[in-house]
Amino acid sequence: MTRAAWALVALVATLAACAEGARPAADKQISAAEKEGYEPKKYKNLKPLIGVLTQPCHECPGKSYIAAGYVKWIEMGGGRAVPIRFYATDSELRRLFKSLNGLVFPGGLTWLWLDSPYVIAARKLFNWALEANDAGNPFPIHGTCLGFQLLHILASNISRNDLLVDTDSVAHPTTLIWQPAANGSRLFGDLAPDLHDKLADPKFNIALQNHMYGIPPSFYQRWPVLAKWYKPLSTTLDRNGIEYISTMEGVKYPFFGTQWHPEKPPYEFGMEEVPHSLDAIRVSQHLSNVFMEAARMSAHAPESKEEELAMQIYSTPPIFSARFEVMDEENYDGPDITYYFDTPDRPPHGPDDDEGEDSGPTASQGEGEGEDGPLLSQAERERLHRRFWSSQGGFF
Ligand SMILES: *[C@@H]1O[C@H](CO)[C@@H](O)[C@H](O)[C@H]1NC(C)=O
Ligand SMILES: *[C@@H]1O[C@H](CO)[C@@H](O)[C@H](O)[C@H]1NC(C)=O
Repeated sequence: MTRAAWALVALVATLAACAEGARPAADKQISAAEKEGYEPKKYKNLKPLIGVLTQPCHECPGKSYIAAGYVKWIEMGGGRAVPIRFYATDSELRRLFKSLNGLVFPGGLTWLWLDSPYVIAARKLFNWALEANDAGNPFPIHGTCLGFQLLHILASNISRNDLLVDTDSVAHPTTLIWQPAANGSRLFGDLAPDLHDKLADPKFNIALQNHMYGIPPSFYQRWPVLAKWYKPLSTTLDRNGIEYISTMEGVKYPFFGTQWHPEKPPYEFGMEEVPHSLDAIRVSQHLSNVFMEAARMSAHAPESKEEELAMQIYSTPPIFSARFEVMDEENYDGPDITYYFDTPDRPPHGPDDDEGEDSGPTASQGEGEGEDGPLLSQAERERLHRRFWSSQGGFF
């Protein structure tokens, strides 16, 4: 054995000894005082479970997907991610909601028609969130990009055709123009002063915009219902000087919306324009912390340990999507890593789907018949990977 190998053996032995010594015996009761030491009373839970509404995809290796950046952004603040299929039954949505401590509406390409299955599912969750908050049980929602637009649509029922104007802001790292409410807001009130200045400074361009549509600030006057629900915290100018709301938060509810993408700087490396500076990461962390601190005030909890484990996203292996696409696409701007759910164009059915364990093709499954029908071969999955994100334009 080489000297390095012996050193490794010694190190492993030391670590094992440490771990043994540090772990209390299984039957040792943790005293109330000891527990209080690390569970301040203000919290209702310290392991937030955060639902993420999946987005539809076609000709992709699943029926719906979640870009892993959102999952990791939740983890960054101390939360755990739970996929919510937008095509889940009412009882499944309700069952999940009762266990969740918050919700993320991610970015994507879905058309937000008021009567689309996506908006209908989102509205149910949104209405339950209002009920929970009204009953004194805080339930935060963060909407990013398309999710930001969705929060406006859910609060107002204004058609996306009336609410959204064209903007030239795809792959656009830029600045926030602070609005008067920003400094006293939940989202930015505690932001480090240097980040406050840098977010507004074109020398830094920390806020990554990646959208084709925006909501002009004047629309909050045109439809007073919007101003009743949300306070604009920042606006941003597109490449042609068109101004749109870039950040808002709820007037009454712990709802937050960013037209820009706080989850990309730490987790998405395909698109050249994504900022990766320390400042961009700190802004991402700040927003995650604010959201997750609100989620720790939620008293929802899963009914059982089994349910708690089954609902989490981690039964579904993430796919390193950039690897399948970047080879033929010089400007790959899809997610680096993606979770796909269920078999393409097959509605989920059967108890396994509810457990989140039959979540579409996985790396370990080969060809053959699954309970849901034929599984995709490795070659077919790779073909779908190649076709999907390269054709999307990156609005995830
Ligand atoms: C929007 O429509 C839904 C369902 O059609 C309804 O429940 C809700 O009250 C409406 N909201 C507003 C603000 O009109
Ligand atoms: C808001 O806060 C920042 C950073 O703390 C400060 O520099 C700025 O002057 C404040 N703006 C207003 C309008 O109070």
